Amino acid sequence: MSTPDTWFDATVIGIRNLTPTVKEFRLQYPLALRLAPGAHIDVQVAIDGQTAMRSYSVVRSDANGQIVIAVKQVQGSRGGSRYMASLTLGSTLKASAPVSNFEPVYGPHHYLLLAAGIGVTPMLSVARALVAQGASLQMLYAVRSKDEQAYLPDLQDLLGERLRVFSADRNERLDVAAEINALAESAQLYLCGPIKLLDAAREHWQAAGRHAAQLRYETFGSSGRYLPQDFTVRVPRLGREILVDAGQSMLDALSEAGIAMVSNCRRGECGLCAVDVLETDGVLDHRDVFFSSREHAGGNRICTCVSRVAGTSITIEPPWRGDPDLSHTTVL
Ligand code: FES
Repeated sequence: MSTPDTWFDATVIGIRNLTPTVKEFRLQYPLALRLAPGAHIDVQVAIDGQTAMRSYSVVRSDANGQIVIAVKQVQGSRGGSRYMASLTLGSTLKASAPVSNFEPVYGPHHYLLLAAGIGVTPMLSVARALVAQGASLQMLYAVRSKDEQAYLPDLQDLLGERLRVFSADRNERLDVAAEINALAESAQLYLCGPIKLLDAAREHWQAAGRHAAQLRYETFGSSGRYLPQDFTVRVPRLGREILVDAGQSMLDALSEAGIAMVSNCRRGECGLCAVDVLETDGVLDHRDVFFSSREHAGGNRICTCVSRVAGTSITIEPPWRGDPDLSHTTVL
């Protein structure tokens, strides 16, 4: 398992309901940590008696070592949000230092920020940083309903008319292609939302001939197209069959079974955990942003840290190590 170098004991010192499905947690770290815009922390969660890791974006932090995160209760969650919902004031949990892969690249160009649902959490600190730089920006915020507009007052205060909200229950549709087409050539797009939105934006961005480096995104690996379910992974070369339960990733199940795997981000971004797919009894539920839509449709490879099978089984060829001792997992 790819784990941060240092875990801190963080204490829950505040909990508030932001929406019917989103809870905010204020965590007290033992020391103040540097925070870059768009940062996330990793948190150890207990799921069915096992320890797993989940990443949550940092909404804000302060010089006294307090870090605020927000967690959405997801139907069919892999168990992380259920664990977080069980925390009460005074609970302690193991949490990492903040890390940011989403810090804005500053420049004179225009920025379009696009957040959907709980994807608003990393965008808040990115928006604050851009406003502090005096950048030209606009933010689009897509929500399911007006009850689910987490942090809307903060964004309205920060951005005023530079914020546009699209609420599905008011039939307000966000046209990603039109928004991309309306951007100046030098503009940058920062995006966080469900995998369907990320795929659509990436497709339009590429189709419009825009530079890949000007599209930045943050992911959350729980946003598949199907609810997680148990399935079996067959590894014919090793004569193994491994059960992956609904609350577990394929990567964890394979690693725990002693199959040598390589991983790093565990968020579907780096592609290091990918394996070849030989056969599937079901549908591949790709949840990564490493492979393109075309590669997803081809179904030849799958990122085991986040992607799953909606069906009964998958047959794979894991990375070939040329090493008869298959009991180690490599973390890069
Ligand atoms: S570990 Fe990075 S995509 Fe799976």
